[in-house]
Amino acid sequence: TAPYETLVVETRETVGLITLNRPKALNALNAALIRELGEALEAFEFDEVVGAVVITGAEKAFAAGADIREMADKSFADVYLADLGGAWRRVVGCRKPRIAAVSGYALGGGSELAQMCDLVFASPTAKFGQPEITLGIIPGFGGTQRLTRAVGKAKAMDLILTGRMMDAEEAERAGLVSRIVPAETLLDEALEAGAKIASFSRAAVLAAKEAVDVAAEVGLSEGVRFERRMFQAMFATDDQTEGMAAFVEKRKPAFKNR
Ligand code: CAA
Repeated sequence: TAPYETLVVETRETVGLITLNRPKALNALNAALIRELGEALEAFEFDEVVGAVVITGAEKAFAAGADIREMADKSFADVYLADLGGAWRRVVGCRKPRIAAVSGYALGGGSELAQMCDLVFASPTAKFGQPEITLGIIPGFGGTQRLTRAVGKAKAMDLILTGRMMDAEEAERAGLVSRIVPAETLLDEALEAGAKIASFSRAAVLAAKEAVDVAAEVGLSEGVRFERRMFQAMFATDDQTEGMAAFVEKRKPAFKNR
């Protein structure tokens, strides 16, 4: 009764797990997949049990980019009206933390999907790149903006203008990857990190993510002011009282998401 055509969607206790599932096209991101990804994330958004979401692909490819076959014959009017780039708003609009677990190719839109996640775990086989230039186009799912913010102008220009790939080590050094994890334990570590995040006060987690995301949007003093207000707001939650009482009483906190 799987409602999804391009994804496998399941829940592992407190963590949502989305596996991109178009193996014959190396998980190329077609319109259906982008739409379903938004739907699946929104469903997890409303699932009170879920505190974080892991997005993964296959061993050979996390995702080899936007679906080139689907795009090949399109006109300006076609892509303007379809607005695949805009369809990602549903994905990035979801507030629960997203962890990308990347093995193999994360190219073009695949790399951009990883950039839309909050944590990126990569196996040593991971390869990130923005090869759009080789197709006569440019990144269209945020790569010129999010990659540049993640790795800086020098490396973003190198990747986007030459179309070369970078391996997991380089991507971690550059700041695109949070952790390099052995291929055999990649998914387990991502799920474990998700479970860890899900175990904390939900309000604190969402506020922390929101505050970090604000850093990409505003200047320093405005960002610091936003953080300070959010920090102060945490003192209106029962979870703050519980978290600090548990520390003082040397016991584990029991967060209630209140
Ligand atoms: N779109 C559609 N189909 C794709 C695809 C893509 N992005 N990437 C791979 N496939 C398909 C191939 O066409 C092939 O299908 P067939 O077996 O039916 O021929 C199948 O997946 C396996 O791929 P390969 O035979 O090419 O596998 P390989 O191991 O020889 O090479 C690869 C792997 C280097 C990743 C190569 O597939 C490749 O270069 N893919 C395209 C990468 C790319 O250019 N991505 C950017 C897309 S544009 C984009 O993403 C725009 C954006 O920002 C919005």
